[in-house]
Amino acid sequence: MPRLHPIIHAAGAEGRHPDWAVMSPARRRHTERVGQLLWEWSGTLGHDRMRRIRWRAAGLLHDALKDESPETLGPEVEDAGAWSGSLLHGPACANRLRAAGVEDASLLRAIAFHTTGHADFRALGRALYMADYLEPGRTGLARERADWRRRMPSDGCAVLGEVATAKIGNLLHRGIPISPVTAGFWRAVTAPPATIR
Ligand SMILES: [Fe+2]
Ligand SMILES: [Fe+2]
Repeated sequence: MPRLHPIIHAAGAEGRHPDWAVMSPARRRHTERVGQLLWEWSGTLGHDRMRRIRWRAAGLLHDALKDESPETLGPEVEDAGAWSGSLLHGPACANRLRAAGVEDASLLRAIAFHTTGHADFRALGRALYMADYLEPGRTGLARERADWRRRMPSDGCAVLGEVATAKIGNLLHRGIPISPVTAGFWRAVTAPPATIR
């Protein structure tokens, strides 16, 4: 893996957010807890230190623009019309990182689509999607979340399916339209594993 970009290193190794981050103190703590889960899972998976820093950085950075207004973020996102305002912070953050010189495509995709999921998620995208939902500061479904966390990362494939079911099921329950990108993610999550012949 190439050297980590300074923004990624600062976030993942030192817990520092970029100076353009717009987050309440509670939001900062949420990103720290998500980063901590990713750091732990990455360690259990036997990743080297650089990869662990990269995983933690994704947690630290994913909501860096969550408290910025959609009016400010909309012009920064090419297909802004495809996103509801509250979800623009993902692609806008990925764009800011890209503009700063971050070239790590799977990390950028993980951050851009952390709310929706994406069919082309690599391991980090899937892990961030789960960690964002499972971090211990979230209050609802406390017992279920603790149980899911206990099964991570060894049972990650099954937990991903269950977390996606919970998140997408919640959208369906509330009558919220499922975007094509989320539908593609759901197909990827539920696809039978490829057979080797
Ligand atoms: Fe978010
Ligand atoms: Fe988040």
